[in-house]
Amino acid sequence: LAAVITIDGPTASGKGTVAHRVAKALGWDVLDSGALYRLTALAAINQGVAADDEAGVARVAETLDVRFDGPHVYLEGADVGHDIRREEVGNFASRVAAFPGVRQALLERQRAFRVPPGLVADGRDMGTVVFPDASLKVFLVADVVARAERRRKQLIEKGISANLDDLLRDMRERDARDTERATAPLAPAADAHVLDSSDLTIAETVQAILDFWQQ
Ligand code: C5P
Repeated sequence: LAAVITIDGPTASGKGTVAHRVAKALGWDVLDSGALYRLTALAAINQGVAADDEAGVARVAETLDVRFDGPHVYLEGADVGHDIRREEVGNFASRVAAFPGVRQALLERQRAFRVPPGLVADGRDMGTVVFPDASLKVFLVADVVARAERRRKQLIEKGISANLDDLLRDMRERDARDTERATAPLAPAADAHVLDSSDLTIAETVQAILDFWQQ
């Protein structure tokens, strides 16, 4: 089996950017598992399936027609890279991610990304559930204010103004849903390195992970 580095952590901890850079440095593939939950959410919204319809959303996840091609993500052939980043889609994803049937439907799909020479997998349960035998597990944390400020900067760069208090409230709600759910709650694996990036740049965070890997 190919090597896997897992990077788990709460929302806006910088996992996505860090995972892509670590993968690039190693010449490996990357799995953005959150994108699969967001794609499930978008497909459910498009099909008029409600967020509290567990069986309906699980069926959507089972039959998801998606393709990843570099930075592009396709749902039923349409490029939805921007659509899946909408707040509405993220909130729907965060709600349906609590359903065991949805998580089960996405499990093998995630494992299929594990191909040589290696995979950097980013998510919430990569080290605990999806790749428990990963070669290196990182749990990336940052305090909630640092994360809300990062999210606000990203939104401003996209020309969207955002209120810090709203972002903080939203982030705390999402953290609570991720950590308090019964199935695959957000928590570091017993053998994970917990890395606090509150006071680190992206480059320093990437380097810290590459240092763990080379140890
Ligand atoms: O990381 P991202 O914000 O794109 O993930 C969207 C949602 O999908 C999260 O709020 C989280 O609830 C869920 N998720 C999950 N397990 C993963 C990745 C994401 O439950 N491995």
